[in-house]
Amino acid sequence: MFTTFAKRLIPPSLHPAARQARDGFALTTRRLARRLRPGTFQLPPAAVAEVRRRLGRAPANLAVSRDDQMYAILVRAYGPDRAAVEYLTSGHGIFADLSAVVAAHFGGWDQIGSYVDFAAGHGRLTRWLLAERAGNRIWVSDVKPDAVRFQQRQFGVQGFVSATRPADLRAPRPFDCVTVTSLFTHLPDRTFAPWLGRLLSLVNPGGLLAFTTRPRGDKPDDFTFVPESEETILANGVRYTLPVYDYGAAYVSERYVAGALASLGVTRHEFRPLGLCGFQDLYLVTQP
Ligand SMILES: C[S@@+](CC[C@H](N)C(=O)[O-])C[C@H]1O[C@@H](n2cnc3c(N)ncnc32)[C@H](O)[C@@H]1O
Repeated sequence: MFTTFAKRLIPPSLHPAARQARDGFALTTRRLARRLRPGTFQLPPAAVAEVRRRLGRAPANLAVSRDDQMYAILVRAYGPDRAAVEYLTSGHGIFADLSAVVAAHFGGWDQIGSYVDFAAGHGRLTRWLLAERAGNRIWVSDVKPDAVRFQQRQFGVQGFVSATRPADLRAPRPFDCVTVTSLFTHLPDRTFAPWLGRLLSLVNPGGLLAFTTRPRGDKPDDFTFVPESEETILANGVRYTLPVYDYGAAYVSERYVAGALASLGVTRHEFRPLGLCGFQDLYLVTQP
């Protein structure tokens, strides 16, 4: 929008200096606009009332980060009013499916010794978890430092910043339960198995790793990587954008995942096709 504005104000010129000035102006106005936008906003009361009507509840904390791409992509798809409802109900869907897994494995969120939601974004799931009396056992991690900071500040959870390369991840402790929704849906083949291995290494004996993938669908191969994600679609000048060769769209079969796990010495897993919100495949791996 600001680039368009700058282009109108300073029409294209053959002279490189004028072009440079125009692009510099666009960048400055974008930065200024970012500074003026509040860092967080509250979800509209009408949307929250609609969520209460549908689900019988709503999270207590309704603050959303302006850098929350999960929210921004919904605004783009549905417009702001419906986006707020979709954001909360999709977060609740993730919460409900993971709650069933946690209930079966541990007996409930309050029974887990330590838990991390890895690639947790800006807390679409966390806000629902807060009512579960899991207290300071909840950790979150994301490669985006602002996402981790936002969650620590808003939700009082513990957090650590991840890394682009699995070998560079410094986790402060191991965990009884690690959940990873919508990260392997984006990883290239190059980092898929290495990230699985690194995350498995964070799980205590007897603990659980739950992660999701995007179904292969009608793609001809067991693994297909498309260089497109919400980051490339939005390109909206958020604080931290991910390179498309590290974070695109990955379509995978169970055979591919089983192979990746086998390469790490894991021979048993539970596969729940479309087990997350009827949308992503869910895999459960118990640490021996
Ligand atoms: C599609 S979003 C899902 C966020 C959250 N799980 C949810 O469902 O709302 C994927 C998240 O993965 C994070 N991510 C990407 N690469 C990562 C990495 N190497 N380590 C940790 N998080 C990463 C992104 O920053 C983003 O927040």
